Amino acid sequence: MLESIVLHDFRCFAQAGFHPAAGLNLLSAPNASGKSSMLEAICVLLRLQSPRAGSLGETVRRGTAGFSLRGRLGQRELVCHYSSAEGRRLVLDDVAQRKSDEYLANGLVAFFSNEDIELVRGTSSKRRRFLDFLGSQCDAGYLKHLRAYERALRSRNFLLKEGPHRGRELVAYDGPLIAAGKYLADVRAVLSRELEPLVAKFVRQISPRGEATAVRHERSGGVDLGAALAASAAEERRLRQTVVGPHRDDVALELDGAAASTFASEGQQRTLTLALRLAQAELIGTRRGSPPVYLLDDIFGELDTERRRRLLAALPADSQRILTTTTWQWLEDGGEAAHWTIADGAIRAGA
Ligand SMILES: Nc1ncnc2c1ncn2[C@@H]1O[C@H](COP(=O)(O)OP(=O)(O)O)[C@@H](O)[C@H]1O
Ligand SMILES: [Mg+2]
Repeated sequence: MLESIVLHDFRCFAQAGFHPAAGLNLLSAPNASGKSSMLEAICVLLRLQSPRAGSLGETVRRGTAGFSLRGRLGQRELVCHYSSAEGRRLVLDDVAQRKSDEYLANGLVAFFSNEDIELVRGTSSKRRRFLDFLGSQCDAGYLKHLRAYERALRSRNFLLKEGPHRGRELVAYDGPLIAAGKYLADVRAVLSRELEPLVAKFVRQISPRGEATAVRHERSGGVDLGAALAASAAEERRLRQTVVGPHRDDVALELDGAAASTFASEGQQRTLTLALRLAQAELIGTRRGSPPVYLLDDIFGELDTERRRRLLAALPADSQRILTTTTWQWLEDGGEAAHWTIADGAIRAGA
């Protein structure tokens, strides 16, 4: 569990510390107090990526050169510094880390936000990002292969953009692209298969109607990426980019046999979205032997009372949960929860 986090110059926080409790934490404060920023900071500290920002640069407090996040996770101490001048610097238990592998082996995160509905409605890039967030936490080699794939893809696309005279140089990148691409697609296929029954379980838990669901990994280029690459040579010359491979993968989501993006109601889409996030979190927990930290950013306003209740009940009791909202007035039984608020840029105990 996350015992503490100290933020310096992250988003709206000049300096702030937070010591969440082990179980359920309820963080309530008015809009623009920094609730989302606090959860974002926890995600960046543990996973080195923001669930909302495209780059870490955006999260640096305006007018300052860089942020630092320091946290205690069980017995380990994680420190992440970032500045536009120096980039990212990581320290694990007082030892500077050249690579992120060892650092990232520690923290597990599940992040729920209002934008998650885009998983169902949005473009395939949202669903690839979902798989990547899952893959990077479940599979030790995933991030390395993702970076290798992205490098090979960038080089290939650069040459294709340059035009036919660079065509012969392409082959140098085919090998790395195919090897890394196969690794990613294989892991994504397995994870999608494991997700499907969990998504079905959580849809039944959250929706009174309990629609039938399908989750299907759609592998761009099929199982033989080399053959697909060769077969698409003419098309990629014409479009000047690589047209098959994991960067074009998707996940088909169905409710009662029909595509959820087009045929499901908004309420059903929200249910499916929650089920996807809950399934992702449970899968991380089973694969890694301990549950992730659950971060739920202000998603209760979108739900009716019954769904709120069912969602709260679906969060595992043995996990650390940090939930934000502007008000908990609707909550009948905050029970054993630790209550927090934000005032003048600091986290304080109490509602
Ligand atoms: N890089 C930044 N530097 C300084 N302030 C920021 C930065 N990014 C966002 N903010 C400000 O931080 C405040 C808190 O935002 P947010 O965490 O989204 O609040 P909440 O989730 O409580 O509504 C907002 O007023 C926003 O304008
Ligand atoms: Mg917010």
